[in-house]
Amino acid sequence: MELLDGKKISNQIKDEIAEIVQKIKARGEKVPHLAAVIVGNDGASLTYVGSKVKACERVGFESTLVKLPSTTSELELMRKIDELNKNKDIDGFIVQLPLPEQINEQRVLMAIDPNKDVDGFHPTNFGKMALDMSTFIPATPFGILELLERYNVETKGKHTVVIGRSHIVGRPMSILMGRKGFPGNSTVTLTHSHTKNITQITSQADIIITALGHPNYLKAEMVKDDVVVIDVGITRVPDENSPKGYRITGDVDFDNVSKKASFITPVPGGVGPMTIAMLLKNTLLARERHRV
Ligand code: GUN
Repeated sequence: MELLDGKKISNQIKDEIAEIVQKIKARGEKVPHLAAVIVGNDGASLTYVGSKVKACERVGFESTLVKLPSTTSELELMRKIDELNKNKDIDGFIVQLPLPEQINEQRVLMAIDPNKDVDGFHPTNFGKMALDMSTFIPATPFGILELLERYNVETKGKHTVVIGRSHIVGRPMSILMGRKGFPGNSTVTLTHSHTKNITQITSQADIIITALGHPNYLKAEMVKDDVVVIDVGITRVPDENSPKGYRITGDVDFDNVSKKASFITPVPGGVGPMTIAMLLKNTLLARERHRV
């Protein structure tokens, strides 16, 4: 079994990006600038956004964190998005999800300038992705592709089973794994809450990508030998022994599934850090787009 070490690979990617930033600076040009908008005080979301800002500092990007109260109206958020769309200093920005219930997520995502949409959630970018056109690929799926590529995991002709059909992970992942090229050329099954007899499907999978948010959902009995397992789950479960009072748990029963797997991502330290690295990569791409 080989660990798909997202922490290590994400650090390599960040080093590569930092080197590019140094060259940009040496030429006297403006460094990439990422902004993140967060509405409300959700602990997990604040942590994720904090990590994104910290990663910007690490590679030499400029960053702006826009914190709005949980009572923010849709109109107020739209005004902020309009400002960020127009601000020539900002190359790309994200609106952290989920949003409070008074705000319509789809309308918000539609309001972001597709050329600044480094999350790749705007319908224009999602459509381009599905049509194999150059675009921003959502950071988590992009990070999974990068992990598979850097570990040279064969995907061609393999049966990839994606568990969960979220717009952020499962749905785009199912499209990307079936695309031409590497990593891709897989035969993809997208499973979700209405899928019947899921074990029959997962036990035929060469590659399993779980993005459910159910701790320890995928058990050893559900997979075949030498399976490749990508665990996107990051659920906080109470843990008295941890200083924070919780620990992060994936969708996979790691101790038992890892005994059968050929490659597997740990949680934490697998997909999570890759997401942040690829957001930085998308911001670099956004800067290049704005320069031409
Ligand atoms: N919430 C969970 N994952 C993500 C992500 O990748 N981007 C944004 N904007 N919100 C999220």
